[in-house]
Amino acid sequence: MADIWLRKNIASLTTEAAGDDKGLKRSIGAVGLVALGIGAIIGAGLFTSTAEAIANHTGPAVSFSFLIAGIGCALAGLCYAEFASMIPIAGSAYTYAYATLGELIAWIIGWDLILEYGVASAKVATSWSEYCCKLLSNVFDIQIPYQYSHSPFQFSPEGERGIINLPAVFIILLLSIVLIRGMKGSSVLNGIIVIVKVGIVLLFIAFGWSYINPDNFVPYLPTNTGVTGEYGWTGIFAGASVVFFAFIGFDAVSTAAQEAKNPQRDMPKGILLSLLICVVLYILFAHVLAGVANYSEFKTVGQEASVTYVIDTYLTDYRWLSPLVTVAILAGFSSVILVMLMGQSRVFFSMAKDGLVPYVFSKLHPRFQTPWKSNVLFFVFVSVIAAFVPASIISDMTVIGTLFAFVIVCLSIIVLRKTNPALPRPFRTPWVPVIPILGIIVCCGLIYALGPANWLRLIIWLVIGIAIYFSYGVKNSMLQVKSQSPKETTH
Ligand code: ALA
Repeated sequence: MADIWLRKNIASLTTEAAGDDKGLKRSIGAVGLVALGIGAIIGAGLFTSTAEAIANHTGPAVSFSFLIAGIGCALAGLCYAEFASMIPIAGSAYTYAYATLGELIAWIIGWDLILEYGVASAKVATSWSEYCCKLLSNVFDIQIPYQYSHSPFQFSPEGERGIINLPAVFIILLLSIVLIRGMKGSSVLNGIIVIVKVGIVLLFIAFGWSYINPDNFVPYLPTNTGVTGEYGWTGIFAGASVVFFAFIGFDAVSTAAQEAKNPQRDMPKGILLSLLICVVLYILFAHVLAGVANYSEFKTVGQEASVTYVIDTYLTDYRWLSPLVTVAILAGFSSVILVMLMGQSRVFFSMAKDGLVPYVFSKLHPRFQTPWKSNVLFFVFVSVIAAFVPASIISDMTVIGTLFAFVIVCLSIIVLRKTNPALPRPFRTPWVPVIPILGIIVCCGLIYALGPANWLRLIIWLVIGIAIYFSYGVKNSMLQVKSQSPKETTH
């Protein structure tokens, strides 16, 4: 009889991470990890969701939403950092749960992470497609036909229907090839993109600051309309669950633990520093965006490509910045997709090594030493979503999937401090259990703010996952096979 609560032994996990010469190459240092984090964090969330939150939920007070979402992430990030330094192997929250809460919960979290990373990269790829078509049209006068750059659920103002989003498939294909060729190359590419992206955010803040019109801050927090989430304090929380998308990605740093040169020292740095830098940049950026234009404009003319709109309309001395911003945004989206795809294939790689999904996906490429079969599989999975499903449907799914993973990670920290108090912890989450409990409360609050439709979508995805576990995973799990040996498991 299979035991679904079997746990991995932490000591054997760390040995596996330390001595696996045939495994993934250790090529990323601390700066590379911070860059990886920022690469995954700044993207479609900042450049599109900020305007959406301002228009529909917060008015000019959007910085408070960023602060709340940032606090939720920081609390979870502190827990991630302890795990990532203690269990520095690929797989992130999935591996942490396997060592603490047992195989079934680990499977659920791995399945959930696949959803999170997959739909996030698909959403960002569709935004990439939109901006790319705009750039090609405005700067090079090249028109990509509407039907080949939109999903079948979208219609142009002239009533033309989309067929397939080919630019989105193109960028996913390109970045999958980069990943298959190895982390070294993708790490350098990611570093360049991060510099461009952060540079543009800083320029926007610096140039835009003097164009802030104090009248736009009156009222700073518009009165609630009577509908929960439409302005007022409930709006700030609803806004926080929208802009939360902008923070997703710092957890992807932990999926690269097995490729970090010095994971014990560098993983906490990578996670926490990238998050901190982004919180500060976001709050300043959002403050400028909401101060230069009136919040009502983001409901109409300014909602699409909001940053370009604000520059073209108000920062009249800096209009030359507009095409550069579009290029930087495209680069930013690319680095987000890159890290998301990497995270997804690494989680799957770990699950394959454990036998929970077919073992063939744990085989590394003979030359590039990357889990290329997972990359190919997810190229197909993510491309299909990006090609045929509109971004609006998938964004909230990403957020709820991530919040769910954060809750499990916070919970696991508390459990592990009780079950394995003596384990070496190069980085310790401060004030346990207060920090993890606060993390759980904030994340559950944000899940609540996402509403019943999203809860249902998450539940459906999890039910499918559980069905797969009981029909495949539990029968093929390496840990179940070895469970007779007391050295391999704890329970
Ligand atoms: N945080 C990432 C973005 O904003 C997912 O695009």
